[in-house]
Amino acid sequence: MKDFKLESNREKEQDLEFVHKSVLVNEIIEIAKTVFSLVENPVMIDCTLGLGGHSLAFLKAFSNLEVFGIDKDLSVWPIAKKRLSKYLGRFFFVHTDFSNLEIIDKNADFILMDLGVSSMQIDNAQRGFSYMENANLDMRMDLSQNINAAEIVNEYSYDNLKSIFLLNGERNASRVAKNIVKYREISPIKTTQQLVKIADISIPRNYRSGHRAKKIFQALRIAVNNELDSLKKGLVQASQMLNEGGILAVIDYHSLEGKIVKHFFRKLSSPSVELNLPELPSNSFPKFELLPKISPSEKEISDNSRSASAHLRCIKKIVIKEN
Ligand SMILES: C[S@@+](CC[C@H](N)C(=O)[O-])C[C@H]1O[C@@H](n2cnc3c(N)ncnc32)[C@H](O)[C@@H]1O
Repeated sequence: MKDFKLESNREKEQDLEFVHKSVLVNEIIEIAKTVFSLVENPVMIDCTLGLGGHSLAFLKAFSNLEVFGIDKDLSVWPIAKKRLSKYLGRFFFVHTDFSNLEIIDKNADFILMDLGVSSMQIDNAQRGFSYMENANLDMRMDLSQNINAAEIVNEYSYDNLKSIFLLNGERNASRVAKNIVKYREISPIKTTQQLVKIADISIPRNYRSGHRAKKIFQALRIAVNNELDSLKKGLVQASQMLNEGGILAVIDYHSLEGKIVKHFFRKLSSPSVELNLPELPSNSFPKFELLPKISPSEKEISDNSRSASAHLRCIKKIVIKEN
């Protein structure tokens, strides 16, 4: 009986690895080694716990590390908790949006953001993230939040809808918004497949790269979860909460995220003038060093197609030497 239990747990763990393969794990652990080797009791904040893949790799690799794992989706916790069960003495779960990072009242030596949704969220049809399945139009990462995708689609003005789709690079944004408004006058848009139908009639065949509804769904998901605003707020707090010598690492998956991270990191690592700080002696404010961008290897991309669009961008808080 005992053996059977062990076997089935192992199978479950393997299933979960299949459901969500963590991106660029080895590369991130190698970078973290350079930081933690100089710190006695290092602290790491995983801003996007998901199923806990990155947190698990950190806890396995560094026996004296304390990890705080954040996720705005409470449903990830029972699964992550099982995977991290050996390490719960050094792991602390915080259910919040990482735009509230400061509620973790502790500085950290490594802060990680692995942006977007997990495969588990996409594969769970009922969550309404996938254009491949029929489900209620939901797309909330945090199920305690009021606004969902159906509300945006049925209640936002034509102009608001158009700018949501335009921001995400949908070339037919005005036609999609117009057709949504037309459709909802006849019947409320409640399901993912109603929206797919609207994408189908709005986007001419020659404009379609990938699935016709891909950009529309991604744009709505970003809007429902206020993703870009959270990212901007989270980056500022993370940069302030890093210990000297600490690293902020962000994995982004599309150009809207990438641009925000790139510009923020450039600004932090540029001369003090661009930081727009009040006049301070040059050694009295933190300086940052931009590390080279890393992309997944061909092997990782062939093992995990989700990693194909990933970029790892890191910034390091420079140690300020006492005079
Ligand atoms: C790509 S998955 C993370 C996967 C994880 N690194 C792993 O290896 O298993 C992203 C997770 O971050 C969460 N998330 C996304 N944006 C968030 C935010 N602003 N605040 C808190 N959690 C967020 C999502 O709910 C999702 O579970």
